Amino acid sequence: MSHVPPTTTNSGAPVASDAHSLAVGSDGPIVLHDHYLVEKLAQFNRERVPERVVHAKGGGAFGTFTTTGDVSAYTRAALFQPGVTTDMLARFSSVAGENGSPDTWRDPRGFALKFYTSEGNYDLVGNNTPVFFLRDGIKFPDFIRSQKRLPGSHLRDNDMQWDFWTLSPESAHQVTWLMGDRGLPSSWRHMDGFGSHTYQWVNAAGERFWVKYHFTTQQGIDNLTPDEAAQLAGSDADHHIRDLWDHIAAGDFPRWTLSVQVMPYEDAKTYRFNPFDLTKVWPHGDYPLVEVGVMELNRNPDNYFAQIEQATFAPSNFVPGIGASPDKMLLARIFSYADAHRYRVGTNHAQLPVNAPHSEVHSYSKDGAARISFHGPDVPVYAPNSAGGPAADPARAAESGWESDGAMVRAAATLHPEDDDFGQAGTLYREVFDDAARARFLDVITGHVGAVRREDIRERAIQYWTQVDSGLGARLRAALTGTAPVENGEPATASVPVA
Ligand code: HEM
Repeated sequence: MSHVPPTTTNSGAPVASDAHSLAVGSDGPIVLHDHYLVEKLAQFNRERVPERVVHAKGGGAFGTFTTTGDVSAYTRAALFQPGVTTDMLARFSSVAGENGSPDTWRDPRGFALKFYTSEGNYDLVGNNTPVFFLRDGIKFPDFIRSQKRLPGSHLRDNDMQWDFWTLSPESAHQVTWLMGDRGLPSSWRHMDGFGSHTYQWVNAAGERFWVKYHFTTQQGIDNLTPDEAAQLAGSDADHHIRDLWDHIAAGDFPRWTLSVQVMPYEDAKTYRFNPFDLTKVWPHGDYPLVEVGVMELNRNPDNYFAQIEQATFAPSNFVPGIGASPDKMLLARIFSYADAHRYRVGTNHAQLPVNAPHSEVHSYSKDGAARISFHGPDVPVYAPNSAGGPAADPARAAESGWESDGAMVRAAATLHPEDDDFGQAGTLYREVFDDAARARFLDVITGHVGAVRREDIRERAIQYWTQVDSGLGARLRAALTGTAPVENGEPATASVPVA
């Protein structure tokens, strides 16, 4: 028999049995001082941390990002300098379903990236869509509740979903993406990723630019039909986790090409629509793609819980040369994620191996539950000090940012001439979808709106799509009232999970 190591307690002492509790006689009561039994049961009771409040179901892998282009004119970020290769982690996810929900439910897909750069971690927490449902983070909790479950029955509910969407017309562009073919990617490997927000890049001379990130899949876009997705939801709820794992295990490493759109800093003031509006894309005719590099995922995690469940991605993790923009959604997220991580994983989540930067950390943070790393006994724990402790660099203060002035108000951003809710949704429907995609789109929204019980919400949904495209609105009304046939629609049940 080959040698196997002895089972030990968590503190390393050998144990006598993994099969029998210590009892007073073989039929007798078990005793409290069987501390190994107590340890096993207690540890089991504490195996879970809270699941992510959104994006709970997901999977991920490690890899590298290699900068193949030259964007040094736009950013001084170390990871984006020509020829640099950086270790990274990616986590893909669905949004509204709980941990364990089927991977193939219609939903945006998360595309969260952590780059372990030489100047600290850079996290880009995006989706497989270039836009989002909202413009202001104050609406995010309401939005997510409308997509999750009813308080009483605990069922997903089309009435809530369409009530919220139709009362929030800025959602139209993202809902058009969601209900289109790309709402059901065949795998995570076969979808594009986007930073979605506008971010700021700063070059070595201190010049500022606005950028949008596009990760284009080298595997090609491939989507499921609603029937295929529904079947997979039943037969293999972990279809996307399995696909990624199996391909990496077989050495078939998925790759994405990163390009950016770059807007000169001054253009933002006079651009035809607000370039910080997360419900809008920048047409490529205005700002073409500039190639940056290639991301390759080539290493499966060794432990799902330690490396994927405990991974914490935060839009606040910037590095020199990259910063935020005046997008109010992004600014809300900069608070939200780090707060979620302190609650979900703990105060010292950034010290866990998967989250720890590969560069040196010289912070003044101290103590807290489950602290792993610390400085030497002679490093001062306060600043300022005269004992040679880490010193902040005032030059960093001016690195990224923008001018801002005015009274404190609660109001939408200053209007640009072409700001609106429905224009780009209509363009997507009319100019990007072909005839067959438009027909499939009508089937899908007919199924979903058809499952809305309240007549007034259904009517509002017809008005919503009429504003996206008047012909679409008319066809939807005809389909819902039975004056036109609907084929291949997704099942119109009250708990169809859509987002
Ligand atoms: C996860 C909040 C908008 C992409 C999360 C989490 C929170 C959150 C609290 C869970 C974090 C965790 O426990 O680790 C918000 C708020 C938003 C917002 C307040 C709006 C103000 C967005 C947008 C995107 C996005 C616009 C994409 C463009 C993601 C992704 C994850 C996530 C990909 C999963 C990260 C992972 O894999 O660990 N969000 N979110 N979120 N969010 Fe958001």
